[in-house]
Amino acid sequence: VNFIELIGRKRDGGRFEDDEIEWMIGEYSADRIPDYQMSSMLMAVFLNGLDGRELATWTDAMLHSGDVLDFSHIPEPKIDKHSTGGVGDKVSIPLAPMVAACGIAIPMMSGRGLGHTGGTLDKLETIPGFTTEFDARQFSHLLEKHGLVMAGQSESLVPADRRMYGLRDVTGTVPSIPLISSSIMSKKLAEGLDGLVLDVKVGSGAFKRELRDARELAETMVGVGKAHGVTTVALITDMSQPLGHEVGNANEIRESIEVLKGGGPPDLVEVVLRIGAEMLTLGGLADDETSATAMLREAVTSGAALEKFAEVIAAQHGDPSVLDDRTLLPDAPDSFEVTAERSGVVKRADAFDLGVAAVRLGAGRAIKTDTIDPGVGLTVHSKVGDTVEAGDVLTTLHHRDGRGLDDAERLARRAYVIGGGPASREPLVHEEVR
Ligand code: URA
Repeated sequence: VNFIELIGRKRDGGRFEDDEIEWMIGEYSADRIPDYQMSSMLMAVFLNGLDGRELATWTDAMLHSGDVLDFSHIPEPKIDKHSTGGVGDKVSIPLAPMVAACGIAIPMMSGRGLGHTGGTLDKLETIPGFTTEFDARQFSHLLEKHGLVMAGQSESLVPADRRMYGLRDVTGTVPSIPLISSSIMSKKLAEGLDGLVLDVKVGSGAFKRELRDARELAETMVGVGKAHGVTTVALITDMSQPLGHEVGNANEIRESIEVLKGGGPPDLVEVVLRIGAEMLTLGGLADDETSATAMLREAVTSGAALEKFAEVIAAQHGDPSVLDDRTLLPDAPDSFEVTAERSGVVKRADAFDLGVAAVRLGAGRAIKTDTIDPGVGLTVHSKVGDTVEAGDVLTTLHHRDGRGLDDAERLARRAYVIGGGPASREPLVHEEVR
């Protein structure tokens, strides 16, 4: 098979045979296809898509690029969640220990920042010592012992996604239904799950801005899950403005800790509870949303969820004292306040602009080899529907020596629309796809 010929075929709108897809994913995973050629292939797929058969084969080839885990010997229900990516979307971090404390086993394989969105692994790694790279044996051991592992793709776990993910991040090839679906579902299907809850984001800060596109993405992934015998449910949730107040890496860990201690912003808490309730009912540990929500709240008030997070941090070589002493987390040395130019009601706090602002400050990557700055980011004080006076702080930019500050300031100002009359707020959960 000639890879250049395959690139040209997809560029011209053609389709692949199963063995061609299996060959290219295998060769790329084994480092025998260079990144520059794969970037071109990803752009061709981005532009011309994959049909249903191609997507199923592509996902399967990614899934089998490494070990596929089998946790049938673990008696607890194995349920995971995954988000399609958002700004300030730290849901997995408080959610996983809450749900694990209720008795669900969670073999969570997450991602890094993609484009203007943040990544669970980058956030967790701001905890001093926290490790997210394990081989299949270590991953299994952590799940068996602690009922929760929060890790990334590795050379033995979905290496095809490990490579493609980093490439897509910096080549403008993220917002594609087949590429997002295969990336997410290959990771999730490698985890040996009984059930999966997907958080499909919609709005300016999501990879799908329109509800009909988010619905198509949700239906595609739910279909892939079901075809593999994994009960899969998708909630389509709002990403027109950032979730919670913090956007960045270490600051999102701080906000997550607040949720585990019984506080946290109401929008974040609501999404955590909705997804957590789905996980508990899918796992058969609760009969309905009301009893599931009560179990999750009890896991927080009893301290069990925070304890579970401390246990997992220690198991993954991190320092659990960050839970009591947040100064142990990295911080940006400088800050700059973006203030309201007029009084009124916040009509828009655009998630995309605020997400890009965080990347410009150093919270995300522009090229593959960039390292992120764990301390920089934004605190979004004013959100849609809030009443502000001229001069009130809309957003604080946490920066290091002015890096990216001019751009971030311009983007943060552009993100806000302040006007008269009431603001129309998007629902937090738009739809469910089952
Ligand atoms: N999350 C993933 O794991 N992959 C994507 O492509 C997008 C979000």
